[in-house]
Amino acid sequence: MANTILVGAQWGDEGKGKIIDVLTQKADIVVRTQGGNNAGHTVFIGKQKYVLHLIPSGILRKGKSCVIGNGVVVDPIGLVNEIDGLLKLGVAVDSNLFISETAHLVLPYHRELDSQREILKGKNKIGTTKRGIGPAYGDKAARTGLRMIDLVNPSRFEHLLKLKIKENNEILKAFGAKPLSFPQVHKAYRAAGDQLKPFVANTVVLLHEATRRGDNILFEGAQGTFLDIDHGTYPYVTSSNTTAGGACTGSGIPPHRMDKVVGVMKAYTTRVGEGPLPTENAEIADLLHGMGREFGATTGRPRRCGWFDAVATRHATMVNGIDELAVTNVDGLDSVEVIRVCVGYRVGTKQFDYVPNDIELLAKSEPVYVDFPGWKQSTTAARRWKDLPAKTRTYLKALAELTGAKLAIVSVGPSRDQTIFV
Ligand code: IMP
Ligand code: MG
Repeated sequence: MANTILVGAQWGDEGKGKIIDVLTQKADIVVRTQGGNNAGHTVFIGKQKYVLHLIPSGILRKGKSCVIGNGVVVDPIGLVNEIDGLLKLGVAVDSNLFISETAHLVLPYHRELDSQREILKGKNKIGTTKRGIGPAYGDKAARTGLRMIDLVNPSRFEHLLKLKIKENNEILKAFGAKPLSFPQVHKAYRAAGDQLKPFVANTVVLLHEATRRGDNILFEGAQGTFLDIDHGTYPYVTSSNTTAGGACTGSGIPPHRMDKVVGVMKAYTTRVGEGPLPTENAEIADLLHGMGREFGATTGRPRRCGWFDAVATRHATMVNGIDELAVTNVDGLDSVEVIRVCVGYRVGTKQFDYVPNDIELLAKSEPVYVDFPGWKQSTTAARRWKDLPAKTRTYLKALAELTGAKLAIVSVGPSRDQTIFV
């Protein structure tokens, strides 16, 4: 499979966790390169449900190495809890996990500032996961962040943390929020640092050695294209590059060593948090929520739902260079009578076949729809392309054609075997 970058082609939650888990079979190493524990990747193995936030989904397969790359922001306590949770479920986490020395830390003042800024924004809030992601990347860009390499150096960590807490307590006071106690934070994070120390490594060197050996590396994207800090619906985005380029900067593997980009998308559209979603539709949201589907894996929030937006996925193919598509949650549409697909946006008399950068224009955009007849039968037992109803195949072929990439994988349910290779 060579070096493959997997990205979300929509607004996150495309079902990347499951597709990663399936593709991991052919990979030697799985790498997270951006985001933090704002992500929530759900994987079912048999009846057991696993929700991963920072650790690559590859951890669930024996014999695979997992890397948390330099582009990720790591909440040390969140990571320790995640490791403990996996150990309790019998998943080995030992010499198969590596954390980049240069990954930045998410600390309690980041989470507190994330919450305070959202409160201040009021009705204009972003709807963040409140995991401190924005403020942590903010510190990174401002060159005032702390990194894993600092966390595992006790005297340096103490010194740097003291300064940061002093600075951030002034800011928190201005917000009218409670200041943090240095001794408390220091003690808790030092303990987490001791637990994480065995995993901390120079992951750039490690990945280059692996590349030289000819290992297959899978780059596990988090969030989705329209949450990208540069290419998403700014400011309603996350604070990292969720698009394919982020896999290079977030790992240290150069662009010409990448072989393939796989774009994951749902057979419809969802979004958590605020910001424009042109194809949003209450009926399909009610239907999916009624089926117990589409609740956030990290925050439990009901996701906003809408019809498939081909303008958006075509844009995603452009900015990511998507070669192959994985379409997930096809079974979510099993009972729908008429399935709509957005093929253009209209604002007044103007029509767009790309995603406008002006957020107000995007918010005003009316979708132009093409309708497809529903197949009105269960697809969950299909295991081969030809097992799918003819109407499902027509629909999926149209999605791939409109998106502009080759249909490679279809998912008809959460388990590993509910996967069709086209
Ligand atoms: P943040 O990443 O917590 O700052 O949140 C910024 C925006 O990205 C919000 O709309 C979140 O709901 C969204 N977001 C962040 N992580 C994910 C994810 O893993 N899936 C879907 N949406 C996400
Ligand atoms: Mg998710």
